[in-house]
Amino acid sequence: MDKVTILSLRQMKEEKKKITMLTAYDFPTSQILDQCNVDILLVGDSVGNTMLGYENTLPVTMNEMVHHTKAVVKGRKRALVVADMPFMSYQVSIEEAKRNAGRLIKEGGAEAVKVEGGENIEMVIRAICEIDIPVMGHIGLTPQSIHRMGGYHLQGKEEKQREKLLADALAVERAGAFALVLEVIPASLAQEITRLIKIPTIGIGAGIHCDGQVLVINDLLGISAEFRPKFVKRYVNLREIISQAVKEFISEVKEGKFPEEKHSFT
Ligand code: KIV
Repeated sequence: MDKVTILSLRQMKEEKKKITMLTAYDFPTSQILDQCNVDILLVGDSVGNTMLGYENTLPVTMNEMVHHTKAVVKGRKRALVVADMPFMSYQVSIEEAKRNAGRLIKEGGAEAVKVEGGENIEMVIRAICEIDIPVMGHIGLTPQSIHRMGGYHLQGKEEKQREKLLADALAVERAGAFALVLEVIPASLAQEITRLIKIPTIGIGAGIHCDGQVLVINDLLGISAEFRPKFVKRYVNLREIISQAVKEFISEVKEGKFPEEKHSFT
């Protein structure tokens, strides 16, 4: 299987081949997903809620993102690794945005970065692209804007919001991004954006018409405890499987059934 690049993703859109993206935060998960031939591994700032126990993505730091990106990069051979720029790593100044994007590439080993926002960060996206760091955009429900949005709600329902998101998508493309995540927007709007722009769209809660789909790996595997949004499909309940295995271990140790002779040395 050929290495996935930003060029092959563009070709996939042109050839109408669906793109797959999953989040990964560690070495073994990265290896497993890569060996399954997922196209893009996203080291999402969702690492905050999924792996670090934070309430939302806002506390995630650059050092945490670099740390998890390094682990994911070590585990993959084929997939494109995209690392999220955490809250406040690109909002203060263009200079800081470029320096922090550079850290994810130079120290983390990512091949691209992702930022949340549209027209408001057009200049930031352009500046990062100009130093040859590929950028993935992200509009719609942008978790770093949780306080402005007042919760994780469907975006782009009203006509005015719809027009704003269309303008945001065009701004992200104009700035030079190679792909765009569309999160929790009506399927009809995602379809319109996908038709309108030449770069691939990758949807999460944005319907079937996007050029690709992304899920948070903990949601797909059923590791997440409570958070079960409508757009998540749980393919397995790993939380239950892990609990069963651990309970079995505990009872076997307590009952003196483990370790057996075959697990012991003479
Ligand atoms: O951080 C993340 O996991 C994301 C995906 C939901 C797209 O941004």
